[in-house]
Amino acid sequence: MAHFQIAIDGPSGSGKSTLARSVARELGILYLDTGAMYRACALKAIRSGVSTKDEPEIVEMLAKMRLDIVFVEGSQRVILDGEDVTEDIRKPGVSVAASDISALRPVREAMVSMQREIAGKRNVVLDGRDIGSYVLPNAEYKFFLTADPEERARRRLEEMAIRGVTNLTFESVLEDIKYRDHQDSTRSFAPLVKTADAIVIDTTQNTPEETLRCLLACLSGEINSLRETNNGA
Ligand code: DC
Repeated sequence: MAHFQIAIDGPSGSGKSTLARSVARELGILYLDTGAMYRACALKAIRSGVSTKDEPEIVEMLAKMRLDIVFVEGSQRVILDGEDVTEDIRKPGVSVAASDISALRPVREAMVSMQREIAGKRNVVLDGRDIGSYVLPNAEYKFFLTADPEERARRRLEEMAIRGVTNLTFESVLEDIKYRDHQDSTRSFAPLVKTADAIVIDTTQNTPEETLRCLLACLSGEINSLRETNNGA
């Protein structure tokens, strides 16, 4: 195997990024968080006062903006027009805007081409909505994470509290999650779908460690050879 790719898809709060980060650490490979890229586009639109649903304006904005994804000691940083916005893209309001902007085909085409470029060069794990179905349809390993919306809202609330955001209610977070679920899975171009060859993991009752063990168990016999491939890469 020259390079191998692991695709992890699922709705927001299903545990994709936590899982992808720990898999990357476990196997010593690169983790690309693709949602962060749509978040950066959304942040740019918010800052520029451009509606995330106005396609012609967004196309114009894309042409002028510069997005760089860099890895500092394996950790992804998002650089927008030269500024590190890795923290800013997690602020409230950016999530829903990212879902809106990601429904636009020109935005997806630009982001997917960057994602394929990064993923083509090394062993990687990518998480998102369309990784196994569209970005890397030939990925060797595909996983689809699910979890009850209420549990996903609880996790998101907790994550925001860790970031110091404490003024959100459970109901508003749940509403955002349901809005994004609907929009991300019903958009016409590259929606969130589970492919037939993806392994489904329901994380509702799992700790992050249990979900990681579950994924590693699926790779079981191949783990050592994956590590060797990586060492030789
Ligand atoms: O995973 P996240 O919450 O950071 O993603 C933010 C939004 O970006 C999500 O609501 C849908 C969109 N997204 C996408 O359309 N395709 C991806 N591969 C990743 C994210």
